[in-house]
Amino acid sequence: MSEQYTEDLKLPQHIAIILDGNGRWAKKRKMPRGYGHIVGCDNLEKMCDIIADMGIKYLTVYAFSTENWKRSEEEVKGLMDLFRKYLKRCLKKAKRNQMRIRIIGDPSALDADIQESIRVLEESTKDYDRMFFQIALNYGGRDEIERAVTKIAEDARSGKLPEGRITGEVFEQYLDTAGIPDPDLMIRTSGELRLSNFLLWQLAYSEFYFTDVPWPDFNRDELMKAIEKYNGRDRRFGDAK
Ligand code: FPP
Repeated sequence: MSEQYTEDLKLPQHIAIILDGNGRWAKKRKMPRGYGHIVGCDNLEKMCDIIADMGIKYLTVYAFSTENWKRSEEEVKGLMDLFRKYLKRCLKKAKRNQMRIRIIGDPSALDADIQESIRVLEESTKDYDRMFFQIALNYGGRDEIERAVTKIAEDARSGKLPEGRITGEVFEQYLDTAGIPDPDLMIRTSGELRLSNFLLWQLAYSEFYFTDVPWPDFNRDELMKAIEKYNGRDRRFGDAK
């Protein structure tokens, strides 16, 4: 697709992606599921650069859900090792793209060294503002809401939060995504038509795009198809929400 073509399109400010289909992609090639995750991870790095170069400001990806712990011990360990390595080399990418990185989800269940890498990465990228990249790790939309409500109750009890109605604006400040605009476009790869507990509050008004293409094969052309569809849809606000 030509650059001219992209110039005619209205770009979403924030894209959220459910990176699905790594396992099936690998199985089709008679390879272990873990290989699919490795290729999926490489693809995420590629796509992140492409999205940054297009000028899209916010990208949020679903890397590991609160439900993913139920997968085999071997697969969970493989994924954790992948995150471990990825978080370490991510700093270079962050510099290239002037990209602030934040992890959303509950890090407390992750190994101590992963938590430390997250802390270092978030701290060292906090002043970048060309792009904002959120990685959902041990993330679940319901879990995020439960944690937010618990914190609201604590703050109300201690008097930190004034009495009265908890508005959407106040509530959002307690979410992991506080300060980040809601996604305009949510993409899910690999054919499933579900939200799987991803950004339940934040996706309330987003456009959804589902494709059969598995995550390891998702590329710039596939992204352009999603953006083209997003442009073709009549985005209405106000009473037509
Ligand atoms: C879903 O594919 C994907 C995951 C559970 C993990 C997503 C992780 C990556 C792409 C690795 C890199 C990410 C980061 C942030 C380093 P699946 O296993 O559910 O595939 P299937 O539906 O075909 O089984």
